[in-house]
Amino acid sequence: MPKRPLDHPPGAAPARISSPLSVPQPDTPTPLLGNLTPTQFMRRYWQKKPLLIRQAIPDVVPPLARDELFELAGEDEVEARLITHFRHRWQLEHGPFAADELPSVRQRAWTLLVQGVDLHDDRARALLDRFRFVPDARLDDLMISYASDGGGVGAHFDSYDVFLLQVHGMRRWRIGAQRDLSLRPGLPLKVLQNFEPEEEWLLEPGDMLYLPPHIAHDGVAEGECMTCSIGFRAPSAQELTGQFLYHLAERGDAPGGAAELYRDPQQPAVANPAMLPSALVERVGAILAKVEWSERDISTFLGSYLSEPKPSVVFDPPARPLSEPRFIQRARQSGIRLDRKSILLYDARFYFLNGEENRLAGVKKWLVELADQRHLSAKRFVTLSDDSSVTALLHEWYCAGWIQVGELA
Ligand code: SIN
Ligand code: CO
Repeated sequence: MPKRPLDHPPGAAPARISSPLSVPQPDTPTPLLGNLTPTQFMRRYWQKKPLLIRQAIPDVVPPLARDELFELAGEDEVEARLITHFRHRWQLEHGPFAADELPSVRQRAWTLLVQGVDLHDDRARALLDRFRFVPDARLDDLMISYASDGGGVGAHFDSYDVFLLQVHGMRRWRIGAQRDLSLRPGLPLKVLQNFEPEEEWLLEPGDMLYLPPHIAHDGVAEGECMTCSIGFRAPSAQELTGQFLYHLAERGDAPGGAAELYRDPQQPAVANPAMLPSALVERVGAILAKVEWSERDISTFLGSYLSEPKPSVVFDPPARPLSEPRFIQRARQSGIRLDRKSILLYDARFYFLNGEENRLAGVKKWLVELADQRHLSAKRFVTLSDDSSVTALLHEWYCAGWIQVGELA
């Protein structure tokens, strides 16, 4: 098997990469999906069956060069994992990793996984944006894995949909729709006990494999390789229930008023003080039975919760922010864009920016466009810039680091 020489390590895309001109159009065929339209892909494959797409992105370049990825893995706020399979023994370590803590790239059978690269690099964010034919509410992150020859994470399954885009070198993927999802005991990572592959492909740069949840897979690098995983979020019913009840409680929606205290004027004296009084259970049951919510509560909860930045996210406000008039002047020349870390969602009546909920009334005409396109062109900004309430709001977001002046390229 030809190996990529190590003296030509994975380079990166140019620092300034074009953002997609617009969001992917549902009914336009795209090489990204093997010339299917996003509509056809979603109908035939999404959450249903795997799809191998040869040359989904021809001439693809890794969003980050190998050394840039290693450097990112050394930062505190970045989630990085190192998986080694030396002498047939699986080991897992969590970052950050200083440069000298990673094995040599000449050593076989190790892999570095760096999560959430889209939060740290505009090129990675632009790559993630190509997948916005799936709602933002479902989009999770872009992970980059670097593997030395023979490296991988073992045969496993994920609970989430994933697009595995080969961006450098080659990786052999084997997949299977097996029912036996039992794991090898005693390992620091989830490796299937009885992997039974049914299909096998060698992916080259630009090729991509889509996998729905629970399809078993094993990807092994053939020579040095880099793979981008575009992952989706699917909160569990348990997480949603817990967070929703928390959201209701935070809003002071508790029945009878949030401040109501538990009362027990009829409580008799007891001989068994450790015993939970049945009257207490009854009374709390009556309080809980009065909890009510509407569809509006559900959508405002989802908007706030799903637009909440991950705990590790820190926005970078400009060190020396432009004054509002200078901001307006610059934005009239070069437009504005959402910061790569910002999440902006909306429904019929509200918008949700980085976890904060606000009414759509009065801002709808431009906010929906900013949310869907993630930018407003200079020309579009000019049409808004006479309204001082709009410019004041956008200037506030700019000062918080939530939006940036200028287009991506
Ligand atoms: C990898 O890129 O090495 C692992 C990705 C996956 O299997 O989900
Ligand atoms: Co996986």
